[in-house]
Amino acid sequence: MFQCFTSFYKLKTVASPGRGILAMDESNATCGKRLASIGLENTEANRQAYRTLLVTAPGLGQYISGAILFEETLYQSTTDGKKMGLVPLAGSNDESWCQGLDGLASRTAAYYQQGARFAKWRTVVSIPNGPSALAVREAAWGLARYAAIAQDNGLVPIVEPEILLDGDHGIDRTFEVAQKVWAEVFFYLAENNVMFEGILLKPSMVTPGAECKEKATPQQVAEYTLKLLHRRIPPAVPGIMFLSGGQSEVEATLNLNAMNQGPNPWHVSFSYARALQNTCLKTWGGRPENVKAAQDTLLTRAKANSLAQLGKYTGEGESEEAKKGMFVKGYVY
Ligand code: 13P
Repeated sequence: MFQCFTSFYKLKTVASPGRGILAMDESNATCGKRLASIGLENTEANRQAYRTLLVTAPGLGQYISGAILFEETLYQSTTDGKKMGLVPLAGSNDESWCQGLDGLASRTAAYYQQGARFAKWRTVVSIPNGPSALAVREAAWGLARYAAIAQDNGLVPIVEPEILLDGDHGIDRTFEVAQKVWAEVFFYLAENNVMFEGILLKPSMVTPGAECKEKATPQQVAEYTLKLLHRRIPPAVPGIMFLSGGQSEVEATLNLNAMNQGPNPWHVSFSYARALQNTCLKTWGGRPENVKAAQDTLLTRAKANSLAQLGKYTGEGESEEAKKGMFVKGYVY
């Protein structure tokens, strides 16, 4: 319990005005895909060079209050072999579940020793594949067990039930599915005696499917998402740190800004990976002489999202690159 309070104290720093989280916990396989997109080999040295570029951007701490790391980064170097994460869910409609609960208690205790104060668990729900009641229950139960184990070992769990952007459904269908998923997640969190004051929720925003013909405005996304947050998320939860899920950099910032036009009972902020890193990665291109320019683009995005957290982002002067969507069909993180 004492350890939890140590972490809860830090929670106030993470969920502080104008700041959000940099998700840079791409697994080595995903990091490899990112590096391949700029023609680089997936070596530990390249992954390290890229991650170093991110964390050493001068002044980043003004906008970013925490970073989510992959295990390799936490320990500087490990081998690739560990199998954790999304795997096929037997008995479902081709859906996934997130394995890794086995041994999690000792791993989280070791992560705490290594200096971590937060942990993240992502699981996904696919709308076109159902979602089946089985997949939703498994997702919610897994998140709740993980959260209880993480808190027990002094870490603040970031609870990430991602509803994938895949599909041609409208925003109402996403709302309906998210309503069900969030209800089950919070039901099982309570069943597992998780302290809501000591978690962060990392949800996807309520948007239409990526292949839906009818696009939603930031005001619509904000209206649907806030309505659902109010219905489902207790105000005891200190922070809602959205993932970007394949939205363009600018879209993710505009949507966040629209959600912060009035007071909210939670800190409503960001924990983006792609929507913070995309232009940065392309600008870097693996060339040492581009590090400074790449860090500048990261700072531009971080500042834009900081303003969006305060509801003061205008969208002026954004590059064409930042407006490009990043949705990849069937994307597995
Ligand atoms: P995106 O912002 O790219 O969706 O990633 C967030 C994340 O951490 C997924 O686990």
